[in-house]
Amino acid sequence: MEGALRASAYPPFHFTLSSKGLPIIQFHKPHPQFSAKPFPQSPLRTTHSKNAGFTICTAKSTDISAEPEIPVDFVTEGQTQGERFDWYAEWYPLMPICDLDKRRPQGKRVLGIDLVLWWDRNMGEWKVMDDTCPHRLAPLSEGRIDQWGRLQCVYHGWCFDGSGDCKFIPQAPRDGPPVHTSKRACVAVYPNCVQNGILWFWPNTDPVCKDIFMKKKPPYIPEIDDPSYTKSMIARDLPYGYEVLIENLMDPAHVHYAHHGIMRLPKTPNR
Ligand code: FES
Repeated sequence: MEGALRASAYPPFHFTLSSKGLPIIQFHKPHPQFSAKPFPQSPLRTTHSKNAGFTICTAKSTDISAEPEIPVDFVTEGQTQGERFDWYAEWYPLMPICDLDKRRPQGKRVLGIDLVLWWDRNMGEWKVMDDTCPHRLAPLSEGRIDQWGRLQCVYHGWCFDGSGDCKFIPQAPRDGPPVHTSKRACVAVYPNCVQNGILWFWPNTDPVCKDIFMKKKPPYIPEIDDPSYTKSMIARDLPYGYEVLIENLMDPAHVHYAHHGIMRLPKTPNR
Protein backbone atom coordinates (compact mmCIF):
# COMPACT_ATOMS: atom_id res chain seq x y z
CA MET A 1 0.00 0.00 0.00
CA GLU A 2 2.76 2.37 0.93
CA GLY A 3 4.44 1.79 -2.38
CA ALA A 4 1.16 2.27 -4.16
CA LEU A 5 0.55 5.55 -2.39
CA ARG A 6 3.93 6.83 -3.24
CA ALA A 7 3.38 5.82 -6.78
CA SER A 8 0.12 7.69 -7.07
CA ALA A 9 1.29 11.19 -6.28
CA TYR A 10 -0.81 14.07 -7.57
CA PRO A 11 0.56 16.10 -10.44
CA PRO A 12 2.78 18.98 -9.42
CA PHE A 13 1.30 22.45 -9.87
CA HIS A 14 2.18 26.16 -9.74
CA PHE A 15 0.02 28.67 -7.96
CA THR A 16 0.11 32.26 -9.24
CA LEU A 17 -2.20 35.29 -9.34
CA SER A 18 -3.66 36.70 -12.53
CA SER A 19 -3.53 40.41 -13.39
CA LYS A 20 -6.96 40.74 -11.73
CA GLY A 21 -5.73 39.06 -8.59
CA LEU A 22 -7.52 35.78 -9.30
CA PRO A 23 -5.73 32.56 -8.46
CA ILE A 24 -4.36 30.56 -11.38
CA ILE A 25 -3.34 27.00 -10.83
CA GLN A 26 -1.26 25.34 -13.48
CA PHE A 27 -0.88 21.60 -13.42
CA HIS A 28 2.07 19.95 -15.02
CA LYS A 29 1.75 16.57 -16.56
CA PRO A 30 3.59 14.03 -14.43
CA HIS A 31 5.99 11.59 -15.96
CA PRO A 32 5.46 8.43 -13.95
CA GLN A 33 7.83 5.63 -14.67
CA PHE A 34 5.87 2.61 -15.63
CA SER A 35 5.76 0.16 -18.38
CA ALA A 36 2.60 -1.29 -19.80
CA LYS A 37 2.29 -4.97 -19.39
CA PRO A 38 0.26 -7.40 -21.40
CA PHE A 39 -3.19 -7.79 -20.02
CA PRO A 40 -3.91 -10.95 -18.05
CA GLN A 41 -4.07 -13.87 -20.36
CA SER A 42 -7.02 -16.06 -20.91
CA PRO A 43 -7.39 -19.16 -23.02
CA LEU A 44 -9.58 -17.11 -25.37
CA ARG A 45 -6.77 -14.77 -26.25
CA THR A 46 -4.78 -17.63 -27.63
CA THR A 47 -7.78 -18.76 -29.58
CA HIS A 48 -8.61 -15.47 -31.19
CA SER A 49 -5.03 -14.75 -32.11
CA LYS A 50 -5.00 -18.02 -33.96
CA ASN A 51 -8.19 -17.31 -35.79
CA ALA A 52 -8.52 -13.74 -36.97
CA GLY A 53 -11.96 -14.45 -38.38
CA PHE A 54 -13.27 -14.91 -34.90
CA THR A 55 -11.69 -11.91 -33.33
CA ILE A 56 -14.91 -9.99 -32.82
CA CYS A 57 -16.70 -12.91 -31.27
CA THR A 58 -13.95 -13.65 -28.82
CA ALA A 59 -13.03 -10.09 -27.91
CA LYS A 60 -13.48 -9.59 -24.23
CA SER A 61 -14.47 -6.73 -22.03
CA THR A 62 -10.85 -6.36 -21.16
CA ASP A 63 -10.11 -5.71 -24.80
CA ILE A 64 -12.72 -3.09 -25.50
CA SER A 65 -13.30 -1.25 -22.29
CA ALA A 66 -10.64 -2.14 -19.84
CA GLU A 67 -7.68 -0.10 -20.82
CA PRO A 68 -6.09 0.02 -17.40
CA GLU A 69 -7.09 3.30 -15.84
CA ILE A 70 -4.06 3.13 -13.64
CA PRO A 71 -0.55 2.45 -14.75
CA VAL A 72 -0.02 -1.22 -14.15
CA ASP A 73 3.60 -1.39 -13.27
CA PHE A 74 4.96 1.59 -11.41
CA VAL A 75 8.53 1.84 -10.32
CA THR A 76 8.13 3.33 -6.89
CA GLU A 77 10.62 5.26 -4.86
CA GLY A 78 13.32 2.98 -3.50
CA GLN A 79 12.61 0.25 -6.00
CA THR A 80 14.86 -0.84 -8.74
CA GLN A 81 13.76 -1.93 -12.17
CA GLY A 82 14.04 -5.54 -11.06
CA GLU A 83 11.63 -5.05 -8.13
CA ARG A 84 8.56 -3.77 -9.88
CA PHE A 85 5.28 -4.29 -8.14
CA ASP A 86 3.16 -6.60 -10.24
CA TRP A 87 -0.46 -5.48 -9.93
CA TYR A 88 -1.60 -8.67 -11.62
CA ALA A 89 0.11 -11.02 -9.21
CA GLU A 90 -1.90 -10.24 -6.07
CA TRP A 91 -5.22 -11.22 -4.55
CA TYR A 92 -7.92 -8.55 -4.59
CA PRO A 93 -11.05 -8.49 -2.41
CA LEU A 94 -14.26 -8.31 -4.41
CA MET A 95 -17.20 -8.46 -2.05
CA PRO A 96 -18.14 -9.65 1.43
CA ILE A 97 -19.99 -12.91 0.95
CA CYS A 98 -22.87 -11.57 3.03
CA ASP A 99 -23.49 -8.94 0.32
CA LEU A 100 -23.69 -11.45 -2.53
CA ASP A 101 -26.90 -12.97 -3.81
CA LYS A 102 -26.63 -16.62 -4.84
CA ARG A 103 -29.71 -16.32 -7.05
CA ARG A 104 -28.28 -13.90 -9.60
CA PRO A 105 -24.97 -12.92 -11.19
CA GLN A 106 -23.38 -9.67 -10.22
CA GLY A 107 -20.99 -7.37 -12.08
CA LYS A 108 -17.89 -5.82 -10.64
CA ARG A 109 -15.02 -3.86 -12.14
CA VAL A 110 -11.58 -4.20 -10.59
CA LEU A 111 -8.29 -2.99 -12.05
CA GLY A 112 -10.22 -2.10 -15.19
CA ILE A 113 -11.36 -5.70 -15.59
CA ASP A 114 -15.09 -6.33 -15.92
CA LEU A 115 -16.05 -9.38 -13.89
CA VAL A 116 -19.13 -11.41 -13.29
CA LEU A 117 -19.51 -13.03 -9.87
CA TRP A 118 -21.95 -15.89 -9.53
CA TRP A 119 -22.73 -18.89 -7.36
CA ASP A 120 -22.19 -22.21 -9.09
CA ARG A 121 -24.53 -24.49 -7.18
CA ASN A 122 -23.31 -27.55 -9.08
CA MET A 123 -19.81 -27.09 -7.73
CA GLY A 124 -20.91 -25.39 -4.53
CA GLU A 125 -18.61 -22.42 -4.96
CA TRP A 126 -18.39 -18.85 -6.17
CA LYS A 127 -17.12 -18.17 -9.65
CA VAL A 128 -15.40 -15.11 -11.01
CA MET A 129 -15.34 -14.85 -14.80
CA ASP A 130 -14.95 -12.31 -17.57
CA ASP A 131 -18.12 -10.31 -17.79
CA THR A 132 -18.37 -10.68 -21.53
CA CYS A 133 -20.27 -13.28 -23.48
CA PRO A 134 -18.04 -14.81 -26.18
CA HIS A 135 -20.93 -14.62 -28.65
CA ARG A 136 -21.85 -10.93 -29.00
CA LEU A 137 -20.09 -9.49 -25.96
CA ALA A 138 -23.18 -8.94 -23.82
CA PRO A 139 -22.38 -8.54 -20.12
CA LEU A 140 -22.96 -11.87 -18.43
CA SER A 141 -23.70 -10.05 -15.19
CA GLU A 142 -26.98 -8.99 -16.83
CA GLY A 143 -27.86 -12.64 -17.32
CA ARG A 144 -29.45 -15.18 -15.04
CA ILE A 145 -28.84 -18.54 -13.40
CA ASP A 146 -30.86 -21.10 -15.31
CA GLN A 147 -32.77 -24.05 -13.89
CA TRP A 148 -29.68 -26.26 -14.15
CA GLY A 149 -27.54 -23.78 -12.26
CA ARG A 150 -25.66 -22.53 -15.30
CA LEU A 151 -24.87 -18.92 -16.08
CA GLN A 152 -27.11 -17.92 -18.95
CA CYS A 153 -26.44 -14.92 -21.16
CA VAL A 154 -29.41 -12.62 -21.33
CA TYR A 155 -28.98 -11.87 -25.05
CA HIS A 156 -29.27 -15.19 -26.94
CA GLY A 157 -29.29 -17.61 -24.06
CA TRP A 158 -25.91 -19.29 -24.33
CA CYS A 159 -25.24 -21.16 -21.08
CA PHE A 160 -21.92 -21.61 -19.28
CA ASP A 161 -20.79 -23.78 -16.43
CA GLY A 162 -18.43 -22.84 -13.62
CA SER A 163 -15.40 -23.85 -15.67
CA GLY A 164 -16.34 -21.29 -18.31
CA ASP A 165 -17.33 -23.99 -20.80
CA CYS A 166 -20.31 -23.32 -22.99
CA LYS A 167 -22.89 -26.04 -22.33
CA PHE A 168 -25.77 -24.94 -24.50
CA ILE A 169 -26.46 -22.77 -27.54
CA PRO A 170 -30.22 -22.60 -28.00
CA GLN A 171 -30.01 -21.69 -31.71
CA ALA A 172 -27.69 -24.56 -32.64
CA PRO A 173 -29.51 -27.45 -34.40
CA ARG A 174 -29.86 -30.45 -32.12
CA ASP A 175 -28.60 -32.83 -34.76
CA GLY A 176 -25.82 -30.49 -35.91
CA PRO A 177 -22.18 -30.39 -34.86
CA PRO A 178 -21.59 -29.66 -31.15
CA VAL A 179 -20.53 -26.06 -31.75
CA HIS A 180 -20.93 -25.22 -28.08
CA THR A 181 -17.85 -27.31 -27.31
CA SER A 182 -15.61 -24.94 -29.25
CA LYS A 183 -12.92 -23.27 -27.14
CA ARG A 184 -14.01 -20.06 -28.78
CA ALA A 185 -17.34 -20.36 -27.01
CA CYS A 186 -15.74 -20.39 -23.56
CA VAL A 187 -15.52 -17.67 -20.94
CA ALA A 188 -12.26 -17.01 -19.10
CA VAL A 189 -12.37 -17.92 -15.40
CA TYR A 190 -10.29 -16.19 -12.74
CA PRO A 191 -8.91 -17.97 -9.68
CA ASN A 192 -10.89 -17.02 -6.60
CA CYS A 193 -11.20 -17.95 -2.97
CA VAL A 194 -13.21 -17.06 0.10
CA GLN A 195 -11.27 -15.95 3.13
CA ASN A 196 -12.38 -13.87 6.11
CA GLY A 197 -15.90 -13.95 4.67
CA ILE A 198 -14.69 -12.09 1.59
CA LEU A 199 -14.60 -13.24 -2.04
CA TRP A 200 -11.14 -12.64 -3.50
CA PHE A 201 -9.92 -12.96 -7.05
CA TRP A 202 -6.57 -13.28 -8.77
CA PRO A 203 -6.51 -11.11 -11.92
CA ASN A 204 -4.87 -13.55 -14.26
CA THR A 205 -6.64 -16.32 -16.14
CA ASP A 206 -3.48 -18.03 -17.31
CA PRO A 207 -3.87 -21.75 -16.51
CA VAL A 208 -0.59 -21.65 -14.55
CA CYS A 209 -2.41 -19.49 -11.99
CA LYS A 210 -5.25 -21.97 -11.55
CA ASP A 211 -3.98 -23.28 -8.21
CA ILE A 212 -2.39 -20.05 -7.09
CA PHE A 213 -4.19 -20.29 -3.73
CA MET A 214 -1.97 -23.23 -2.83
CA LYS A 215 1.12 -21.06 -3.32
CA LYS A 216 0.01 -17.67 -2.17
CA LYS A 217 -2.96 -16.70 -0.03
CA PRO A 218 -4.71 -13.38 0.47
CA PRO A 219 -3.78 -11.44 3.61
CA TYR A 220 -5.53 -13.07 6.56
CA ILE A 221 -6.93 -11.12 9.51
CA PRO A 222 -7.72 -13.60 12.32
CA GLU A 223 -9.82 -11.09 14.27
CA ILE A 224 -12.41 -11.04 11.46
CA ASP A 225 -13.11 -14.73 12.00
CA ASP A 226 -12.97 -14.46 15.80
CA PRO A 227 -16.57 -14.30 17.15
CA SER A 228 -15.37 -12.44 20.23
CA TYR A 229 -14.74 -9.46 17.96
CA THR A 230 -17.49 -7.31 16.51
CA LYS A 231 -17.39 -6.73 12.80
CA SER A 232 -19.42 -5.09 10.12
CA MET A 233 -18.67 -5.49 6.44
CA ILE A 234 -20.14 -3.56 3.56
CA ALA A 235 -19.11 -2.92 -0.02
CA ARG A 236 -19.74 0.39 -1.75
CA ASP A 237 -18.50 1.65 -5.08
CA LEU A 238 -17.18 5.18 -4.72
CA PRO A 239 -16.47 7.24 -7.81
CA TYR A 240 -12.86 8.04 -7.01
CA GLY A 241 -9.49 6.36 -6.60
CA TYR A 242 -8.29 4.70 -3.43
CA GLU A 243 -5.58 7.32 -2.96
CA VAL A 244 -8.25 10.00 -2.45
CA LEU A 245 -10.00 7.82 0.12
CA ILE A 246 -6.78 7.06 2.01
CA GLU A 247 -5.88 10.76 2.07
CA ASN A 248 -9.37 11.49 3.39
CA LEU A 249 -9.14 8.84 6.13
CA MET A 250 -5.84 10.30 7.27
CA ASP A 251 -7.46 13.71 7.68
CA PRO A 252 -9.66 13.52 10.83
CA ALA A 253 -9.91 17.33 11.04
CA HIS A 254 -12.67 17.32 8.45
CA VAL A 255 -14.96 14.93 10.29
CA HIS A 256 -16.91 17.37 12.51
CA TYR A 257 -17.67 19.60 9.58
CA ALA A 258 -18.01 17.39 6.51
CA HIS A 259 -20.08 14.84 8.46
CA HIS A 260 -22.02 17.36 10.53
CA GLY A 261 -25.43 16.00 11.49
CA ILE A 262 -24.90 12.57 9.96
CA MET A 263 -22.51 11.02 12.49
CA ARG A 264 -22.58 10.71 16.25
CA LEU A 265 -19.56 12.70 17.28
CA PRO A 266 -18.25 14.15 20.52
CA LYS A 267 -19.05 17.84 20.85
CA THR A 268 -16.38 20.27 19.77
CA PRO A 269 -15.46 22.95 22.24
CA ASN A 270 -17.15 26.29 21.47
CA ARG A 271 -14.62 28.84 20.46
S1 FES B 1 -24.37 -12.28 -26.69
FE1 FES B 1 -24.49 -13.83 -25.25
S2 FES B 1 -25.62 -15.36 -26.20
FE2 FES B 1 -25.45 -13.85 -27.70
